[in-house]
Amino acid sequence: MCGIVGYIGNEDAKEILLKGLEKLEYRGYDSAGIAVMGQDDVHVFKEKGRIADLREIVDVTLSATTGIGHTRWATHGVPSKSNAHPHQSASGRFTLVHNGVIENYELLKQQYLMDIPMKSDTDTEVVVQLIEVNVNKGLSVEEAFSQTLKVLKGSYAIGLLDNENPDVIYVAKNKSPLLVGIGEDFNVIASDAMAMLQVTDQFVELMDQEIVLVKKEGVTIKNLQGDVIERAPYTAQLDASDIEKGTYPHFMLKEIDEQPLVIRKIIQQYQNDNGELTIDPEIVDAVNESDRIYIIAAGTSYHAGLVGKQFIEKLAEVPVEVHIASEFGYNIPLLSAKPLFIFISQSGETADSRAVLVQIKKLGHKSLTITNVPGSTLSREADYTLLLHAGPEIAVASTKAYTAQLAVLAILAEVTAKSTGKDVSLDLIRELGIAANAMETLCDEKEQIEQMASEYVQTTRNAFFIGRGIDYYVCLEGALKLKEISYIQAEGFAGGELKHGTIALIEEGTPIIALATQESVNLSIRGNVKEVVARGANPLIISMKGLEMEGDRFVIPEVHELLTPLISVVPLQLFAYYAALHRDCDVDKPRNLAKSVTVE
Ligand code: G6P
Repeated sequence: MCGIVGYIGNEDAKEILLKGLEKLEYRGYDSAGIAVMGQDDVHVFKEKGRIADLREIVDVTLSATTGIGHTRWATHGVPSKSNAHPHQSASGRFTLVHNGVIENYELLKQQYLMDIPMKSDTDTEVVVQLIEVNVNKGLSVEEAFSQTLKVLKGSYAIGLLDNENPDVIYVAKNKSPLLVGIGEDFNVIASDAMAMLQVTDQFVELMDQEIVLVKKEGVTIKNLQGDVIERAPYTAQLDASDIEKGTYPHFMLKEIDEQPLVIRKIIQQYQNDNGELTIDPEIVDAVNESDRIYIIAAGTSYHAGLVGKQFIEKLAEVPVEVHIASEFGYNIPLLSAKPLFIFISQSGETADSRAVLVQIKKLGHKSLTITNVPGSTLSREADYTLLLHAGPEIAVASTKAYTAQLAVLAILAEVTAKSTGKDVSLDLIRELGIAANAMETLCDEKEQIEQMASEYVQTTRNAFFIGRGIDYYVCLEGALKLKEISYIQAEGFAGGELKHGTIALIEEGTPIIALATQESVNLSIRGNVKEVVARGANPLIISMKGLEMEGDRFVIPEVHELLTPLISVVPLQLFAYYAALHRDCDVDKPRNLAKSVTVE
């Protein structure tokens, strides 16, 4: 989703901004722009499409050491050059980039800006115009900025340039993430530390509604009352090589291959000196004291939550409900007496999940965030955090974060179960180790999966994934992967439900991908496959060793029954990857999608 960068120092701002925007490309965007302070004036370059397109129009001869940049994922107004950021005030004095959504922008336009001709359809332009209107009333720029922020409803992260004072970038945030990066003789801003790792690994977190003046020599943070706040920087724990593709053609493939390593790393991170799995006792107590767990998540993380429910109910014996964040927030169900909320989020920034967190905190309920990003909003605001340790996930389609979520949820379930003396027959460290080895074996079988993808989905309009029990949840994820990156309409269904409607869609040759990794439902899922084959479907059965039958197309190694999702998802991820490649799709940056969805 939208990304912000800014630089003020002595170096060539254009290049630093463009490189920063390139690092944010993974978040998903449809246009981009930069504004730099030249000798005489501010210069704005913006373009629809990729950063590479923007690079083409930037004047390389221009000398500038201050600037701001933005990648836009359209919310208000179509993706276009005029709607791309930065936006400028009527006189051109102020230039601004914004992430988030200004909910009351129409009202603000009517109230304060009726005489100002708007140059875009965005909510953002209202902010920059309003700042100028306030300055024209006689306020200082800082006062005008602060006054403007006070009337905004919604979410924002803002970087603002003033032509008449090139020595400062004005910055503020509310709900949307924004960091200030600290350097020697320069400072930067970024919505994601990754963007500015090229120049610094020292970052300062900003709090909602603070006003920040970023200058070459220093950074001043002020609260709403105007008091100066001192806040020490932290070191971003990111390795620059983690965010490079290396020899891989795509981040997605690299991240699929990283999964065995990630599982092994998780085992290490959650092991104590005695070699036992361990979790912060306060978290374990919170699970034990709750009478019901509510898992809140979106997209792939929601699918991980469905599997996590099985782990927690089967091992820790605490009832679990799994909810889509964007639904829960507007329709809170009847809650149990002692609920514990678990937010699963790769990015820790998903606005729908955060909206729920804000609500349940007001109700006084406890919360745990399971995330890949330390210091992310959901992590900061929840009572407890468990980290995924998966390393940065760059491809929009989530892969290693999903399997990491499953592993951490399994550890949470097992440690909690053991804490109350439940007889857990599964040796999780051993079984996760076996799962990691099995993942490795699957990653070595790419050619076979590529072959399957080319046979099944090159020309098809749609594909159905079917499974029963825990396999069904993996089917939902497999279908999501395929639709996200190959644009084939793909849906996951419970095997037995197909005949209650969906079977009407089966035509000659329709691909049906069936998972058969559970002994208890092995025969019934195969019965469901027969039903669709009788109507012309083209079946691709993925089974597990020990349960395989004649005609199965792919057999995954045997792992513990509960942990099969960690393994069975791998051929589905690879299947989606190769299907997208065969269809010439942009695997890492699929159309319309964003990695981190920071608007509700
Ligand atoms: C976006 C991404 C998905 C992701 C979902 C939830 O839609 O494209 O891959 O699963 O957001 O993101 P989160 O960061 O909360 O896991």
